[in-house]
Amino acid sequence: MKRMVLIGFLLLSLVLVFCISKGTSEETSGPSYVGSKKCKACHKEIYKSWKETSHVGAFETLSDSNAVENKDCLPCHTTGYGKDGGFVDTSSTPKLVDVGCESCHGPGSDYKKTSIMKDIEKAKAAGLVIPTEETCTECHTKERSPNFDFKKYKVEGIHEIPEAEE
Ligand code: HEC
Ligand code: HEC
Ligand code: HEC
Ligand code: HEC
Repeated sequence: MKRMVLIGFLLLSLVLVFCISKGTSEETSGPSYVGSKKCKACHKEIYKSWKETSHVGAFETLSDSNAVENKDCLPCHTTGYGKDGGFVDTSSTPKLVDVGCESCHGPGSDYKKTSIMKDIEKAKAAGLVIPTEETCTECHTKERSPNFDFKKYKVEGIHEIPEAEE
């Protein structure tokens, strides 16, 4: 009987230790979303042409549909909803409405510094995403975007790609 109690106690402490370590690892959360205006400082032309895309109307689309309170819609019509440091609501994270830069390029808090940005490998290590078709199809699912065609959609859906970089 004593043996059982001892084993029970040991198991319980194991579970406790596991929970505590899990708790702390969740507190040291990763990068957060800073909003597209932060990227504008250094990527003006891209920012301007992104502004022309329909991604910038994505949140207004929800208010037109009376759906801004509908959490089912937010993951695709805002930046980072449901992810660490992403959109929460219009009063606490107004900069993260719409499909912003970071919806495709990943949360920017850790890569937006010049010293990191100019070294692509460092930037990627800090969370920068070079988007591929899969980045789009997280939102452009067959259901929501039946006509999605990466090549075509890329032309008007993203932003200009500066000539010199081609
Ligand atoms: C302090 C200036 C600065 C800020 C702020 C900044 N960038 Fe950059 N970014 C650069 C520089 C410099 C480069 C490297 C040269 C280039 O490609 O323009 C770069 C490159 C990039 C690249 C191209 C990587 C490659 O080589 O293919 C992407 C994508 C990018 N930035 C996205 C962003 C996003 C998204 C934000 C906002 C979260 C952001 N940047 C904020 C300066 C900045
Ligand atoms: C976070 C979700 C999300 C991601 C990621 C995303 N999109 Fe979108 N996209 C949307 C939403 C939402 C709309 C509709 C916006 C509106 O009209 O309100 C849209 C609209 C578009 C449109 C306009 C379609 C039309 O019928 O006018 C194009 C083009 C487009 N996206 C291309 C892309 C491409 C290319 C990628 C990947 C590089 C991409 N999108 C990634 C959510 C996303
Ligand atoms: C899985 C991602 C996703 C979810 C969830 C989602 N949408 Fe969308 N929505 C999109 C994409 C992508 C488009 C653009 C489709 C296209 O044109 O190819 C879009 C387009 C729209 C459009 C048409 C915009 C226009 O100007 O033509 C409306 C309206 C809309 N969504 C409303 C909603 C509402 C309301 C909800 C929640 C009930 C919702 N969406 C949930 C991804 C999503
Ligand atoms: C809908 C998705 C999407 C959004 C939103 C988006 N981008 Fe991009 N971005 C891409 C794709 C796709 C590429 C091309 C990647 C490739 O194939 O090289 C790209 C390329 C870039 C590049 C590299 C250009 C080069 O010289 O090769 C920079 C810098 C960049 N984006 C910055 C931004 C900034 C800043 C914003 C917001 C103002 C933004 N992006 C918004 C999808 C997006």
